[in-house]
Formats: sequence, structure tokens, C-alpha cells
Amino acid sequence: MGIEEALSAELREKLRDDLLAADHKFILELPKVELHVHIEGTITAELRWKLTQRNGTPLRIAKNGPELQSLEELQAAMDLLRPDSSRVNNDEERFQFFEAYYEGFECLKTKEDYFDLAMHYLGHAATVNVRYCEIFFDPQGHTSRGIPWNIMMEGFREAQKKAEKELKVKSAWIMCFLRDMSPESAMEHYKAALPYRNIIVGIGLDSNETDRPPALFDEVFSLARNDGFKLTMHCDVDSKNAHEHIRQAASVVAGKGLDRIDHGLNAAEDRRLIELILKRDVGMTLCPWSYLRHTTYAELGPKIRVLYDAGIKISINSDDPAYMEDCWILQNMLLAKHLCGFDDKDLVVLARNAVNISWASSAVKENILKEIDLVYDRFHPAQ
Ligand code: HPA
Ligand code: ZN
Repeated sequence: MGIEEALSAELREKLRDDLLAADHKFILELPKVELHVHIEGTITAELRWKLTQRNGTPLRIAKNGPELQSLEELQAAMDLLRPDSSRVNNDEERFQFFEAYYEGFECLKTKEDYFDLAMHYLGHAATVNVRYCEIFFDPQGHTSRGIPWNIMMEGFREAQKKAEKELKVKSAWIMCFLRDMSPESAMEHYKAALPYRNIIVGIGLDSNETDRPPALFDEVFSLARNDGFKLTMHCDVDSKNAHEHIRQAASVVAGKGLDRIDHGLNAAEDRRLIELILKRDVGMTLCPWSYLRHTTYAELGPKIRVLYDAGIKISINSDDPAYMEDCWILQNMLLAKHLCGFDDKDLVVLARNAVNISWASSAVKENILKEIDLVYDRFHPAQ
């Protein structure tokens, strides 16, 4: 697949603006469930600047990079990171992304910072009618900097309570292990997180996937399933051994395979994987804007459509909006519609899929499903 055929950063921005300029009232108003967003991927330049100023922490785009002195310098450095069809290949781009993503964690020090970070996302979610979300966090990226668990988790918990009460956005957390760290570290973090299990609904796996297959983390995922957690893992698009990783995630890990797969778009290329995912009714969380950055534009829509048309429960999500042209769930749904030719009925199917594959209570699910139907009927009155 030629990276040279992916859209440049400028063309992606133009596409985003064109999609927003067209009528998008139905998609905006559709009640939403978001299942794939990294809270650390929502640290925008503005938020990072605010926290850095408050804490007096140094600001860099990469660990050994020069110290940045202003918001404008940070914005320019983040802009330079964006993959551009003429500049980088996939591996280089991923490496640069992870370097910047983990450096971004450095601005988080106090409970107030974690609270502000979560409120920043939840506040945005409310504006685009997200009713319920399951948010990823990467504890190893915080404990490795000496942040105590209670600082992180109590900040998250307070934001969660406030957002539910004041913004009517319900939420739960998915604790992701970093797959480029050891399975022992994952197990240690799993045990340390148990005091906070009443706000953690599931366990995930993210970070650099190269040579880190799902089965490597079987022990901790099996334990988590026995303890009642729901399970998911990233299978990044076009990563090395993508098909084998999807097979393990869908049918091997924790005895029978996971409850959901994050990304996993390469399943569209293999009928056996599609059958496996359908047989086990594994939900998939897709983030089209993220793929647009390194997948050939012409290929992306048809691949998403293969999964959708096969009847797999795919949902549309945002991933790391601060690093992806400021594209949140709304822009991702607009892109899915644009690339796949989805009509409003299809968008309802996608919204319902997200509800159905979520790990919310049945009461929460029923309410959102009813609300989705009401919005559809309001926009499509019977003749
Ligand atoms: N892939 C894997 N891990 C991640 C990502 C991603 O796109 N974003 C944040 N952690
Ligand atoms: Zn992700």
C-alpha cells in the first residue's frame, strides 16, 4: 500500500472543513456512545500549555527535544508531527506519534490536572451528544513518572461524577496496558488498580504493536476476565502480522478471545477473520480519521464497508483527537458517511452498534437506544 496515496495534512484539513460545512445536523444530534478514545490523546496544545504553565513543568515535543517557550511553538511542533504523504512512512510516523504522545503525559502532575483532562474531554463529548463513553487510560505512562494511583484515579472519578450530574454524560474507564512493556508490568498494574475497580469497566492493550502479539498478555487478560472485567485490545491497521494478531484477539486470548477489538480493519482482507468475528459476535471500534493519515484514501471506505456489510458490529470513534487534526467523534462519523456512502439509516445502525457493544448497564443502553429512534423519527417524519 503506497503511503504516497494517503492524503496530505492540508488535504485532510480541507476535507474536515468541507465535511463540517455541509449539513451535519442529524449526525450531530444523534445520541452517541464513544468506545475508543485515549484520554491522553485528548491533550490539545491549549490544554497542555495551561497545565504546563500551572505546574512549571518543561514543555517538549519529544524527550530529548528543545524546550518550547510558547503555545505557538507547541502548536507548530505538533503540526510538524502530522503525517504527510510526502514526508514519512508508516513506521517512522508511528514512532514519532508515540514519542510525542508519551511526552505529552509530562504535563500531568496533580489530581486537579487529571480532573481537568477528563473534564476537557467530557465537556467536548457533551457538545456532540455523547451520552455514554468508555475512556482508555494508560496507567504505566503515569506510574513510571512517579504519579501515585490515587492522584490519577481520584481526579478521573471526580470528573466522571461531575460530568454525569451536570453534563448528562455517563462514563467508565478502560485500563490499557502498554504492550511494549512487559507482561509482568501489566500484571503489577492490574493488581494495583483493583481498589479502583468500581470505575474501571474493562481492560485494554495499546502502544507499539510491533512484535507484541495479543497472546503475550494472555495471563493477565485471563485473570481479568475471571474477575469480571470486559476485554479489548488494539489491533492497529497495517501493523506487522496484523491478521494473526486479529485472530488471536478474536479467538485465542483469555480462553476464547476478547469481547471487542479496537481497530482491526485488516480483518476486511480475510474472509476467515470476518467469519470468526461474526461467530463470536466481537464488536469492533473503528477510528476512520486515524486511518486516513496512513491508508490509501481510495481503499479506506471499501474496507470499512466490507466489515459493515458483513454484519459485524462496528462503531465509529475518535482515538487521539489532539494529534489528528482536531477530529473528534463527530468528524469521524462524518468521514465514515462520506467514505462509505452511509445514509441516515446506516448511521443509526452504527450508533446502535456502539450502544450494543458497550459495557453499559441494560438500563443505560435501553435509554440511549430509545433516544436514537426518537431523533431518527424527528428527522424523518412519517409521510
Ligand atoms: N495505537 C496504539 N496505541 C495507542 C494509539 C494507537 O493509535 N493511540 C494511543 N495509544
Ligand atoms: Zn487507540
